[in-house]
Amino acid sequence: MPEQAPKVRKLSGHIGAEISGLDLARLDDREFKRLHDLFLEHQVLVLRDQTLTRDQHIALGKRFGELHVHPMAKGPEGYPEIFPIEAGANSTNDPKAIRAGKKAVNGGHWHSDVSCDPEPPLGSILYLREVPEFGGDTLFSSGYAAYEALSPAMQNFLEELTAVHSGEATYRLHYGDQRAQDRSRFGIKSETPYPEALHPVVRCHPETGRKSLFVNRGFTREIVELGHAESQALLEFLYRHQETPEFQVRVQWTANTVTLWDNRCTQHRAVFDYAGQVRRGERVTVKGDRPEPVLRHESLPWALAGA
Ligand SMILES: [Fe+2]
Repeated sequence: MPEQAPKVRKLSGHIGAEISGLDLARLDDREFKRLHDLFLEHQVLVLRDQTLTRDQHIALGKRFGELHVHPMAKGPEGYPEIFPIEAGANSTNDPKAIRAGKKAVNGGHWHSDVSCDPEPPLGSILYLREVPEFGGDTLFSSGYAAYEALSPAMQNFLEELTAVHSGEATYRLHYGDQRAQDRSRFGIKSETPYPEALHPVVRCHPETGRKSLFVNRGFTREIVELGHAESQALLEFLYRHQETPEFQVRVQWTANTVTLWDNRCTQHRAVFDYAGQVRRGERVTVKGDRPEPVLRHESLPWALAGA
């Protein structure tokens, strides 16, 4: 059979591409390299009509790197690396209703996956097998585009700052009053009941060298170097800035769509506008590294080349 390059259709000006002509269950090395390059370039990739077994899904994740295990959500029996996504008739995004016993939907507010971990995931691979008749789209926003749209004075100011990311508020609501699961066998230390970490407000992407804003409503709590009121005002500004539609792509799911996102330079929100319907699938999450602030990278080759 003649080799055919996958087709790439950009979905917006700054982020996202739909890829066709690749079967994620059986990528040869050349195809995986192409997928990986596209992942770095577009930040979010959408591939439709895929058929992946759980083992194939895990194997795909492992080609990007070691897998991440969620601090709170337990995977299906024998699959700790699988993060189940399951919304049904009893699901809600309303904190009051969740406290009263309804099931919380996943990712209903802007966040970067598990940014409260000291080494947040590199990326996620979400495979939705069952989708609602309407609604349930996922919005993704580019941290590159958000950073690049700021004035040089604001960029310089933000590059000096560090933020506290905490899982407590979100995870207490979603998983009840329980401690993080023991992840020691995966080399992850959990010294606090809920994961917490300090990260630079602007991080330097370890593979592209590009700068990205790295704060999100779901997990970021405070900017360490500022007073509380200053911190809250600046974070609110940054959240709203990142929510600018021009920095976003909106992914409309169909059954058996796989979406991969680079968690180091994007954040996302699953829109909950499908109450009463089923939205079901599984996520495999790839381990990332400790976010690097911008200044430490100034002597690296990409910085010297002005890339
Ligand atoms: Fe998420």
